[in-house]
Amino acid sequence: MSRFYVTTPIYYVNDVPHLGTSYTTVAADALRRYHRLRGDVTRMLTGTDEHGLKLEREARERGIPTADFVREMSDRFEAAWPKLEVEPDDFIRTTQPRHEARVQWLWEEIRRRHPEDLYLGAYEGWYCVPCEELKTEKELEPGNVCPIHKRPVERIKEESYFFRLSGYGQALLDHYAKHPEFVLPESRRNEVVSFVESGLRDLSVSRTSFRWGIPVPEDPKHVIWVWFDALPNYWTALQEREDTKPFWDGDGAVVHLVGKDILRFHAVYWPAILMSAGLRLPTTVFAHGFLTFNGQKMSKTLRNAVDPIGMARAFGDATRAGEAGGADVLRYQLLRGIAFGQDGDFDLAAMVERYNADLGKNLGNLLSRVLGLCSKMTEGKVPAIDAGATTPLETGLAEAAARHLDAARSSWSRLEPHRALEETLALCTAANVYVDRAAPWAEAKKGGPKRVETILGTLLSVLEAVSVMIWPVLPSRSDEMRRQLGLAPVAPRAGVDQWPSGLRTRAPGEALAPALPLFPMLDADTGQKLIGALTPQAARPEQGEDASRPEAPAASPPPVAPAAPAPIDYEAFSAVDLRVGVVRACERVPKKDKLLRLSVDLGEASPRTIIAGLALSFSPEAIVGRKVVVVANLAPRDFGKGLVSHGMVLATGPSDHLTLATVDGDVPPGARLK
Ligand code: MSP
Repeated sequence: MSRFYVTTPIYYVNDVPHLGTSYTTVAADALRRYHRLRGDVTRMLTGTDEHGLKLEREARERGIPTADFVREMSDRFEAAWPKLEVEPDDFIRTTQPRHEARVQWLWEEIRRRHPEDLYLGAYEGWYCVPCEELKTEKELEPGNVCPIHKRPVERIKEESYFFRLSGYGQALLDHYAKHPEFVLPESRRNEVVSFVESGLRDLSVSRTSFRWGIPVPEDPKHVIWVWFDALPNYWTALQEREDTKPFWDGDGAVVHLVGKDILRFHAVYWPAILMSAGLRLPTTVFAHGFLTFNGQKMSKTLRNAVDPIGMARAFGDATRAGEAGGADVLRYQLLRGIAFGQDGDFDLAAMVERYNADLGKNLGNLLSRVLGLCSKMTEGKVPAIDAGATTPLETGLAEAAARHLDAARSSWSRLEPHRALEETLALCTAANVYVDRAAPWAEAKKGGPKRVETILGTLLSVLEAVSVMIWPVLPSRSDEMRRQLGLAPVAPRAGVDQWPSGLRTRAPGEALAPALPLFPMLDADTGQKLIGALTPQAARPEQGEDASRPEAPAASPPPVAPAAPAPIDYEAFSAVDLRVGVVRACERVPKKDKLLRLSVDLGEASPRTIIAGLALSFSPEAIVGRKVVVVANLAPRDFGKGLVSHGMVLATGPSDHLTLATVDGDVPPGARLK
């Protein structure tokens, strides 16, 4: 058992919670849930950053006392996170006395230990108010414009305290070299190392030009610069109570999740401040990438328009999963759709497709299929697994489960939630393939109840493992899944590692609940309505406008569906011979990136060869065993070099996100669709 402490940045209260800030917060919550499952003693902190000139000015412009303004805004953050199934242990505000007093203590401690580290000087230079940072001429764009905020910086001249950052360059470089896990991902570490190697300037860490901040001890006409005030929140929040102090002082992990925009503050300035104060350094600063929304940069207008809570609600309504279930779906989309550490696009159409493919067809379908079979064949109870009725199919599935469980666990440990989810879905695919191959309905006809029970018992064990694997990201759907499986919700306990290493055999006779769709499929119409409802005005390009312009005004909703082809009569339709096929074998076509060569069982004397453009979306292993819909009477198509395709497999979506058309129920290969 170890301690695990994870933090999000504290968010500025001049904004409302948006998709970007939700991304970091949801990731932190999921990561901490994973650690709870592992039996770690965990703590998660988030909060708000409430000092600085920017907020003082904004409150004045609104005619509200600054303290009231920041409280109101902070409340919105605190109220938002639980709606996304985020459960922080603490919410810190930089205007709280518990924080202010300790930032002053830190200042004094630095002066006591290293008097030369904080010295009074004079500063004249360029200051960007939104960045709350001084800029060198070199950093500015022509016209003295801040490269980040694209607005002119202000010339300021004032007395200021400086932090002797320049004295910490070597110590920081040594730390990065000794602790390669300190800055992640690796590409970001290289950036940080080059920045430090290029030479560090001392930091101006106090202001006399405004009052909304923490006074410098013994020189209160100065207030402490916002970053020197904000960064310590991770430490100050733990200092009030004896039982929380060990999260910093002990040898457990301290992980800061931040967006790449604020990596330098966390990976350079913060450790230098901690070194100067003689405090321990965090274990890891992980910088994730930035989200765009439907391909557009998240300008402030767009950010405000894309409301994550409304989005979770809309997902919940469309999938009939309620608010918590909708939050789960949003969490899944954020953590599965974007590789953690890289920039990514939150594309609504891709989200709907991913929902249907991963959650609806794969995971959800597996659950309802297995529960449906159990209700028919085992009286809705957990059956006994009989060692004598076990075949290599079960051994294969159990081995695959152990492999995927292990790979998902190491993905979480490497802070790769997208991969952990990929492994989880791969296990569902393996189980779906297994159902087709083991064919319990056929075994029932052969009259072997032991074999049927062994198959269904094995599948229930897989579903139990999956319900644990999804819990960090989909906590409320995991509860519902377990309810249907007749299991209590996941209940993490400190000191008990509950991440399964393989399949658990359940006690026979335990009752199962009737299947209710866990992730009902979104049909084309509902999907389009959802996309329409979630596309804010600010994200809708005007016809003929450049869609990448961040704040293009809305004229008309985006095109929702391609124009339907001209009608055909029944005769024309019935000339198409659509058949159910089962893929028996599959391989890549050498030198053809997009093509797979499939061997498809259509109930004929021998399987057909079909060449299909599926390779950007599926690996050969992922497709073997799948049930597909085939146009069986399509004239053979010659791809050259002896490659002839005898039919076509139906699928939908962009070529790198294809979803296969398939049929519901237990239909034999060769069945005709009409
Ligand atoms: N107050 C500082 C942080 C102080 S931490 C000691 C701050 N606040 S912020 O409100 O601007 O939040 C910045 C953080 O919001 C980013 O680091 C990132 O975590 C998140 N994001 C904001 N926009 C984002 C995207 N478009 N995409 C992903 N994350 C984004 O900086």
